[in-house]
Amino acid sequence: TQRTLVLLKPDAVRRGLIGEVIGRIERKAGWTISALELRSLDQDTLEAHYGEHKGKPFYEPLVAFMSSGPIVALVVEGERVIEGVRQLAGPTDPIAAAPGSIRGDFGTIVRENLIHASDSEESAERELKLFFPGLV
Ligand code: GTP
Ligand code: MG
Repeated sequence: TQRTLVLLKPDAVRRGLIGEVIGRIERKAGWTISALELRSLDQDTLEAHYGEHKGKPFYEPLVAFMSSGPIVALVVEGERVIEGVRQLAGPTDPIAAAPGSIRGDFGTIVRENLIHASDSEESAERELKLFFPGLV
């Protein structure tokens, strides 16, 4: 089985959508939440997390948004969960995301798209270490 890092972004927390989004993940049969924390992200963590986007025009506003309020970080385990949570989330741009997906149902603009989920086994490995260094 796999593990993935999921972040409920500050817009999800501000808008009272923590339960809604976690509920969708929990209802997926066979997936388990194995860690969960509400926290604010410092600049170093954000820089490490979104390093691949450094230098892009949306990078600075993205980091400002991600530090605009608390986020919820969670570890989800299960069969093909990396691909699966990306599927539940929908495409990055909420306008392109189908109804029924998290971003399609609740997303507003591309930056404020409610949820992050690791996009590969390599990203998951790196991001889980960054957010939950104590994880065994
Ligand atoms: P994450 O799970 O947050 O990593 O989203 P993603 O994997 O679907 O998208 P990506 O890693 O390419 O971009 C990271 C985040 O930057 C996105 O979730 C958006 O919040 C933001 N972003 C990406 N592309 C754009 C863009 O073209 N314009 C703006 N304004 N924001 C963008
Ligand atoms: Mg990404």
